Amino acid sequence: MARVPLLLALCCCVVAALGGANAAAGRKMVGVYELKKGDFSVKVTNWGATITSVVLPDSTGNLADIALGYDTIAEYVNGSSYFGALVGRVANRVANARFVLDGKVYHLYPNDGKNALHGGHRGFSKVIWTVKEYVGGGDSPHITLYYHSFDGEEGFPGAVDVYVTYHLSSPYVLSVHMNATALNKATPVNLAQHTYWNLGGAGSGGDGVLHHTVQLFASRYTPVDASLIPTGRVVPVAGTPYDLRSPTTVGAHVRQIYGGKAGVYGYDTNYAVDGESGAMRKVAVVRDGVSGRAMELWANQPGVQFYTGNFLDHVVGKGGKVYGQYGALCLETQGFPDAVNHPNFPSVIVRPGGVYKHDMVFKFSF
Ligand SMILES: *[C@@H]1O[C@H](CO)[C@@H](O)[C@H](O)[C@H]1NC(C)=O
Ligand SMILES: *[C@@H]1O[C@H](CO)[C@@H](O)[C@H](O)[C@H]1NC(C)=O
Repeated sequence: MARVPLLLALCCCVVAALGGANAAAGRKMVGVYELKKGDFSVKVTNWGATITSVVLPDSTGNLADIALGYDTIAEYVNGSSYFGALVGRVANRVANARFVLDGKVYHLYPNDGKNALHGGHRGFSKVIWTVKEYVGGGDSPHITLYYHSFDGEEGFPGAVDVYVTYHLSSPYVLSVHMNATALNKATPVNLAQHTYWNLGGAGSGGDGVLHHTVQLFASRYTPVDASLIPTGRVVPVAGTPYDLRSPTTVGAHVRQIYGGKAGVYGYDTNYAVDGESGAMRKVAVVRDGVSGRAMELWANQPGVQFYTGNFLDHVVGKGGKVYGQYGALCLETQGFPDAVNHPNFPSVIVRPGGVYKHDMVFKFSF
């Protein structure tokens, strides 16, 4: 709706935030901020608190950017793939874009058929965040972004203050710290970091990530219906193509998994991460035997959405590279999808004064 004026406004205020960290702090301009530690670097934009690139060496010392994305902010504004984005207020799907909380019915924006996806029409991935703090280099490169979500935004109850910090540490560790405070009403909060990873390099061709191996520390998953809404059951992965408890190539069972549309196959699945929710624990290990790169993910959330880029359909990304189906994978730690409509799922409700905390740690090696 307001997409065209917003796009124009952005084009006028896109700034290159090179070294101008403190000058830019607190101002609502869109910039790209680099965090750099030796030959490990991550770029972030305050448009959607988005990770736009992650560069690191492979086993022969060649640098590559392993995160999918676009060259310009305008393409992020227009894009519908959530590349690198911080999604919320409620990540993943809410059935019929509707839920009941404390006896009151709330209607969200239905942007995925009749369901709401990733916060609606203009969720946290489609707004400008405020840069609170930025240190690009040194021992502890980090950026903290802030967003104030108003009462009623996209249909959600109550105002919420949201922070995300991206932080680099040695050796080749990227951590993501998110928090959200409900200011005046109870509200669901479920944030997710939506980077698409290809450890061989974004758009590096071949079979995409089908040859990557994935290990998920999850013994159960939440089956879905034809529109990817959970049925409410939480079932064992044992004996199914969803069982990734031992390292398994992505391609091994990908065509046995319904991908959310007739003729589309692949994982788009919420797993219940083993161990105690709230505690940091190992979620996943991904390896690319070709580049030698590996990524280990730790987090404190009850679930993780494993998505194999089933809907990537020749999206033109950075440097004109084309991203096709299975060109990348996402590991979005999260509360369970549609938890607002399933009382048996871990609650995602934050009460006034309550604080939601979500931590992720990506450990890269090569
Ligand atoms: C916007 O996205 C659509 C696909 O969703 C694409 O066809 C179109 O070229 C994009 N426009 C711009 C200006 O990037
Ligand atoms: C949320 O994170 C920000 C940035 O790190 C921090 O300043 C703030 O104290 C945190 N809020 C809570 C309630 O923990």
